[in-house]
Amino acid sequence: MIQRGRKRKRRKYTLQALWIFAAVIASIGLLLGYKLGFSDGKNEEGTIVNAAGQPDGLIKDNLLALTPILQASVTPEPTVTPTPTPEPQGPYQVYNPSEGEESNITPIPSTGEEVTEAEETVQETQKMIALTFDDGPYPPVTDRILQTLRDNDSHATFFVMGNRAETYSDTIAQAFADGNQIGNHTYSHKDLTKLSADQIIYEVQYSNDMINQSAEVGDAYLRPPYGAKSETVKSTVGVPMICWNVDTLDWKTKDADAIYKEIMGTVKDGDILLMHDLYPSTADAMEKVIPELIRQGYKLVTVKELLESRGVTPEAGSVYYSARQ
Ligand code: NI
Repeated sequence: MIQRGRKRKRRKYTLQALWIFAAVIASIGLLLGYKLGFSDGKNEEGTIVNAAGQPDGLIKDNLLALTPILQASVTPEPTVTPTPTPEPQGPYQVYNPSEGEESNITPIPSTGEEVTEAEETVQETQKMIALTFDDGPYPPVTDRILQTLRDNDSHATFFVMGNRAETYSDTIAQAFADGNQIGNHTYSHKDLTKLSADQIIYEVQYSNDMINQSAEVGDAYLRPPYGAKSETVKSTVGVPMICWNVDTLDWKTKDADAIYKEIMGTVKDGDILLMHDLYPSTADAMEKVIPELIRQGYKLVTVKELLESRGVTPEAGSVYYSARQ
């Protein structure tokens, strides 16, 4: 009996010790939890608040209230997300290269005043192009091109063949009377680099004589056939030689749309364009090209006008390709 009673007493003390231990542990836990902010407490106004500092409520409410905070802490900062560097903004973007506008305008800081100044500068600089036609005259085509030029108050340069000049004298006279420039494309379209000096003189001077019987143009500028020139050619011809920087390939494509696209895709201020008044497709193309160039702000002038407008005085024996700047 005595042993049973001792056992019962010992068990009682053990239970009490366990309860006290549990209570102490719970108290320490609560105290630590409060200090670390994981349990409820009171805010400055004395309201009971949860760990998120919000008024206490149902556990469900607290969890809902915590959700956005947890999400916010997980969501990457917006500044971390790589954003594309914006393209530099400047007044030069006003000019659309696809519309044939000048694109080599120096960018200037983006302020309203300076935008206005840039626009004024462009308006003051007249864009010019010289259309040139070789190998004619050929009235079925040349006459149509002359009509299109008249309709659009524009001028071009015709590098005619001496051996056609007598036959088509009226066409040359009309072109000249309209204000176009008549150039010389030699008498019989020979490669001048394969000729002697005397032969070169014949090809150039005899052709020039024939041209002057139709229109008094004086010493016409020369377009050497195939663009071929040599030191002998340069020192012999006695007049400026005009080549080109835009080949429309009209002789190759014989297609008005292709000619139109070739010109519109490349043309710039100061260009000299090569064409031939031999193909109806070239005349067709001019009916679209000339009004469109004018709409884009170009003035269509003769080669002489183009070079002189840029301060260039053509010299005998020199070769000119364009007046691009
Ligand atoms: Ni030719």
